[in-house]
Amino acid sequence: MKTLSQELFNRLLDWYDRNKRVLPWRGAPSPYEVWVSEIMLQQTRVETVKPYFTRWIAAFPTVKDLAEADEEKVLKLWEGLGYYSRARNLHKAAKIVAEEHGGNLPCDKKILQKLPGIGAYTAGAILSIAFGLPEPAVDGNVLRVISRLTADPFDVMKNEVRADIADRLRPFMPDGKTSDFTQALFELGALICLPDRDYRCDACPVRDFCEACAENKQDRYPVRPIKNPKKDETLTIFVLEYNGKFALKKRPEKGLLAGLYELPNVYGDLTEQDALSLYDGDVRPLPAAKHVFTHIVWNMKGYFVALKKPPESEGLFFVSPEELLREYSLPSAFSAYKKYCK
Ligand code: ADE
Repeated sequence: MKTLSQELFNRLLDWYDRNKRVLPWRGAPSPYEVWVSEIMLQQTRVETVKPYFTRWIAAFPTVKDLAEADEEKVLKLWEGLGYYSRARNLHKAAKIVAEEHGGNLPCDKKILQKLPGIGAYTAGAILSIAFGLPEPAVDGNVLRVISRLTADPFDVMKNEVRADIADRLRPFMPDGKTSDFTQALFELGALICLPDRDYRCDACPVRDFCEACAENKQDRYPVRPIKNPKKDETLTIFVLEYNGKFALKKRPEKGLLAGLYELPNVYGDLTEQDALSLYDGDVRPLPAAKHVFTHIVWNMKGYFVALKKPPESEGLFFVSPEELLREYSLPSAFSAYKKYCK
């Protein structure tokens, strides 16, 4: 197994200097900007995050602005990014930082990790990128890069593995360049050391230091445990129109997409007749759609119903297409049907 060396990281830092992408959260970001960008970048691609980040910072330039914002506005700005608990936690944590820390994120790992939504990875990113402290940020990209460089078959799903990799990286973080160190590893994972068979070793600045490349076994790392299959669910979604307005509902406060808005829906594969028995009106079928969550897949069919009278179902309320666009965040799971609300 190869070991990590300062020479390797010097090579990586040189390469980063010449090849880094210009991103809205780069330059000299505040701790708050690093925090927001890192939370958005969890489970979401850089290209998707860019406009969300810019809009967010324009709407809430400081922790205090976020702390004072309405939850509806916070969720609206998150609409389409998914995993809404990230937005809720940011909001909750901003209130704590405003109240208990005078609106400034603390530069202490333990205190940061007490805030909702901030784990070892985000704390490391904030400390190394914004505060210049030698605390590594180990995400999936970094695990992949290090497992290949060292040909180490560690189990990436284990928390203690992340802590161990952080311990191995820390001694190599150069004074005054901790931000570049963290982001150079992200950048290598994003541009060169890509997952599966998409690695680009021909362009890699640290190829000479890579054990997996020397053995031509790049695709064996990182070693992943076998995943549990996702649970398949079948739903029928309704676009209910009455007097030019469309029905929405709030989801229960617990479970999948907790407390968010939804289009009315029921479990099961309903026929047009079934649909008519639920909602009286002119029914037209809509195309099928599929949405993949972390552990569940929704297989959806849909009906547009021009209602003859307002339905008596509990919890439904009607909004205009403009209100829907402006004020209500509808999770991406419904986006195949949202477009018919007009
Ligand atoms: N992925 C996670 N954090 C990132 C960052 N700061 N820059 C680019 N990609 C990232």
